Amino acid sequence: MNKRVYLDHAATTPLDPQVLEAMLPYLTRFWGNPSSLYAEAREARKGLDAARRSVAELLGCKPQEVIFTSGGSESDNLAIRGAAYASLRQRRIRPWRSRRGDHIITSAIEHHAVLHTVQQLEKEGFRATYLPVDRYGFIDLAALERAVAAETVLVSIMYANNEVGTVEPIADAARIVKGKNPRAVFHTDAVQAVGTLDINVDRLGVDMLSIAGHKIYGPKGVGALYVRSRAPLQPQQLGGSQERNRRAGTEDVARAVGLARAMELACGEREARTARYRSLRDRLLAEVPVRVPYTQITGPADPMRRLAINFSCCFQFVEGEAVLMALDLQGIAASSGSACTSGSLEPSHVLVAMGISEELARGSLRLTVGKDNTLEEIEHVLAVLPGIVAKLRALSPLWRAGAEAAASPGNPPAGN
Ligand SMILES: Cc1ncc(COP(=O)(O)O)c(C=O)c1O
Repeated sequence: MNKRVYLDHAATTPLDPQVLEAMLPYLTRFWGNPSSLYAEAREARKGLDAARRSVAELLGCKPQEVIFTSGGSESDNLAIRGAAYASLRQRRIRPWRSRRGDHIITSAIEHHAVLHTVQQLEKEGFRATYLPVDRYGFIDLAALERAVAAETVLVSIMYANNEVGTVEPIADAARIVKGKNPRAVFHTDAVQAVGTLDINVDRLGVDMLSIAGHKIYGPKGVGALYVRSRAPLQPQQLGGSQERNRRAGTEDVARAVGLARAMELACGEREARTARYRSLRDRLLAEVPVRVPYTQITGPADPMRRLAINFSCCFQFVEGEAVLMALDLQGIAASSGSACTSGSLEPSHVLVAMGISEELARGSLRLTVGKDNTLEEIEHVLAVLPGIVAKLRALSPLWRAGAEAAASPGNPPAGN
């Protein structure tokens, strides 16, 4: 195959030409500051307002409940820090309404944009519970219910995991949290969910929801945070009164327009795109373990509870990074898990939380399909992958000893 095969759509996606087309007038003609009062500014304001209305419609919320941000990380930070500090302040102002709220619940497999933010809040005096997950990456709803307390101010659970594709039961989780503590804010990181899952905020029952443009063929550097009316939120970026005083800074109109257009396309074509992703992804799920011995699929066994774009696995007796480099030489762009973990020596916190040994976690591979991938490309990957893994294993001192030990009775391999 001559052209490169891109299979890392969970990391980022190419800009859709239709999105670029929608953005261009706001980069070239309507560059005015949307807060100003002259004609150039009014056009920019119109574009920004239309983008907000469009995003709101797709989320099933009011336009004023949408805050444009610089991406998924900022949306997560704003939601978590904003809700935590606002709740603390509210309880200081009206202490008779509740006991001091300082407790946050999240899961062990969140993206670092959530995990590191919660860890920082712990350093600042909040308490945190990190819900464990099962071997497929699902949170335990009974454990969630037990963890919710009167002091819980915020629960943040991701909608779909970026590494192994686990789709968490967000609507059930939100119902449980609200049933036990109606004042607790429920936030979900839906960065990976947009385009293949239902993102209607009322059906999900969430108070806050994070999205990002560059995972859905939109521009990088833009995202949005949905914040339900009256949900407590303390701004984290101070300055002007943009975004109804919740996020200061001159709005990036072109990127907001791009995010809205990307969402329109992703949501409008959701069913067709999802069916296509599934057919390509299911081929990988079925064939990789057959063609490459000692492969363990990671993430949900039920493909319908897994993000449609996601294939992930661990190869025993091989370094995932080495597989990635060899794939790259063959023209295939893949990932070992999250883009942020790639290049670090630490095994993925997601795989470790799922009970996968550190050694096996080091052999992880993630292939995430996109709207322009073809079956021919998938067949190409299936053709070259077994040879790559076999070659690397042949060089590995662990391979012979390990394979022999794994194959001996009483010590079964991780999966085949
Ligand atoms: C689940 C999840 N949350 C948050 C982020 C961060 O988004 P961004 O890169 O737009 O800051 C990502 C990106 O990989 C993600 O997959």
